[in-house]
Amino acid sequence: MRILLVGNGAREDALSWQLAQSPSCSALFAAPGNAGTASRGENWAIPATDGRALLARAQEANIDLVIIGPETAIAAGVADKFREANILVFGPSRSVGRLETSKIFAKRFMERAGVPTARSKAVHSFAAAEKALTGWVGGCVVKADGLAAGKGVVVTDSAHEARELLREWYTSEKIPGGGTSVLLEERLVGREISVFAIGDGQRFVPFASACDYKRAGDGDTGPNTGGMGAYSPPLDFPADYLEQVQSAVLDPLLAALQADGEAYLGVLYCGLMWTATGPQVIEFNVRFGDPETQVLMPRVRGDFAAYLASAARGALEPDLAYVADVSCVGVVLASAEYPTRSTPIHGLPADVTLAAGAAFWGASASTESGVDAAGGRVLTVSATGATLALAREQAYANVAELATRFGAQQLSYRRDIGMLPSR
Ligand code: AMP
Ligand code: GLY
Repeated sequence: MRILLVGNGAREDALSWQLAQSPSCSALFAAPGNAGTASRGENWAIPATDGRALLARAQEANIDLVIIGPETAIAAGVADKFREANILVFGPSRSVGRLETSKIFAKRFMERAGVPTARSKAVHSFAAAEKALTGWVGGCVVKADGLAAGKGVVVTDSAHEARELLREWYTSEKIPGGGTSVLLEERLVGREISVFAIGDGQRFVPFASACDYKRAGDGDTGPNTGGMGAYSPPLDFPADYLEQVQSAVLDPLLAALQADGEAYLGVLYCGLMWTATGPQVIEFNVRFGDPETQVLMPRVRGDFAAYLASAARGALEPDLAYVADVSCVGVVLASAEYPTRSTPIHGLPADVTLAAGAAFWGASASTESGVDAAGGRVLTVSATGATLALAREQAYANVAELATRFGAQQLSYRRDIGMLPSR
């Protein structure tokens, strides 16, 4: 199969690393791709959201399968474009994509489907927000509707704190994502876990799970980021947690999608809070996670390309690929001031191969003088091991080795990935 991978982050680099090892992958292309995908295939300088240009180029190149990485491409209808042209595509439609791109749509959908999720209230003005917060008990999570690149959610401790934040958002028109609608949500207590299920329109099959670390600093301190590291598989969840997710979340969601005549072809990322009463959905994403993918791909065995193609075809063959019973830890190396600023870095060493593990580039490009990274999350450094502790030890040994290779280039990272339960 000739495969086109859409996207340019470390998630796509990790996907391309695994796809390149798949027996059924004969040629690999990425658009726009990054320094990593360029090392194992051809990059096309086409934005991930430009469905028309992607389709034209894919038809020229006889692409057999398109795999969509980022939600921005789903929201732009890129999967629909390919499906209309009868090209196999792993990634849901723009319409189903609203499960991620609109918090309010997702909430209404979950309520209708009977999927467990925090109680909430949608508001469209500060006056309505004030009214909704009157008599609010406990912490309140404030979520801007629409795509806000991970910056649209603020977890507050009280109604007072939420009110002051909303006053600022509404009076200065600073609602992340640029919309006017906000969801106010009951704050859940528990442990977070990301479960990835593959959908073929007829069912959802859990594929793998991971825990990520969203805060910038050690011990889960500092501002929220896109994710500073992850480990897989998660530890200390009930032995039957996947069965619980299947029956409480995946089965009812599938039934509601089918009632709407929607076929979900792609990966569904269930962001869950494991509470005293079981799983509650914090969010759905319609794509693989970043950095979770960087700790899932090193565990994958079998023919991953054929596996994704079978789902895209509407008849998943679950035996084509699986995750091995090993642990994986991934540590994100970010530019110094991330997440406050994403300062570009020039001339990083192009060779990030590791004897025991793999390093995946974030947004970046290869140049004659090395790799230019766009800044923010620069690399995810992953390693597997028989236990979580061994995987962590190797991942940090890899970080130390790369730090030596990078010399004067200072990258920041957390020291505790895989050490404490992520929140
Ligand atoms: P989201 O973008 O919806 O995943 O939210 C980002 C982060 O905010 C999540 O990973 C959680 O850590 C936190 N969060 C979101 N909703 C809730 C909630 N209802 N209760 C507690 N924490 C939440
Ligand atoms: N790891 C968080 C995300 O991919 O949204």
